[in-house]
Amino acid sequence: MTRRLRVIGFGMGPQHVTPEAAEAIRSVDYLVAFAKGDRDDPLLAVRAEVARRYGDPPVVVVPDPPRDRADPADYPAAVRDWHEARVAALRGALEERPGDVGILVWGDPSLYDSTLRLIDGLDVEVDVVPGISAPQLLAARHQIVLHEVGAPVHVTTGRRLREAVAAGQDNLVVMLNSGLDLDGLDDWRIWWGANLGAAGEALVAGRVGDVRDDVLAARDAAKAEAGWVMDLFLLRAP
Ligand SMILES: C[S@@+](CC[C@H](N)C(=O)[O-])C[C@H]1O[C@@H](n2cnc3c(N)ncnc32)[C@H](O)[C@@H]1O
Repeated sequence: MTRRLRVIGFGMGPQHVTPEAAEAIRSVDYLVAFAKGDRDDPLLAVRAEVARRYGDPPVVVVPDPPRDRADPADYPAAVRDWHEARVAALRGALEERPGDVGILVWGDPSLYDSTLRLIDGLDVEVDVVPGISAPQLLAARHQIVLHEVGAPVHVTTGRRLREAVAAGQDNLVVMLNSGLDLDGLDDWRIWWGANLGAAGEALVAGRVGDVRDDVLAARDAAKAEAGWVMDLFLLRAP
């Protein structure tokens, strides 16, 4: 009989778990979660709390293989190697334990998440349960629509922000930021958020030239409070 693997978006924490996600968590024999290194991983603690609140299935922690970040010139190869090591680690965890499995995904599996690529090729029957994503929460917190009436929104990463602006994108959601490179965009408007729905939550909005320092300070404060920081923003041309 084919095993079932449920990919479950849980939003940013237990408060976002939909009834459908709760049912999925309760239905599996165990959950698998990747954890970074051997230090305390606060994002793993959020997953553990989600599990505890919804039926308390065991959480099998799979150590995340180290990723070679030393050579950005060979970034695609480093990502490929890391991906293969993660697939092997996940396959090993599934082989060790029989039963139906759930993988808890931060936010929603459709946005900047590798789970669906990781499990592609495993001999399992997959279903996907959606969750609340960070851009949705950003929009809710700022009480905004992510685009102007009938207009598009471009979703990208901090790494690709410059090329998107150069290509003419004028309304962007920017995720996976390692800093804040907004030089030359002083007159654009930004709606920024960090650690949404979690410890250290912070919001800043305004003209980039006016609020850039506020964003940087709020980012540092969020990290100091929570021990981690994840942020994203909506950026719109004047
Ligand atoms: C690996 S992606 C995962 C996105 C997730 N699948 C989703 O649906 O939102 C992580 C990025 O999402 C954004 N993000 C995730 N959680 C966040 C939070 N609680 N507050 C602010 N941004 C968050 C940040 O841009 C972060 O770098």
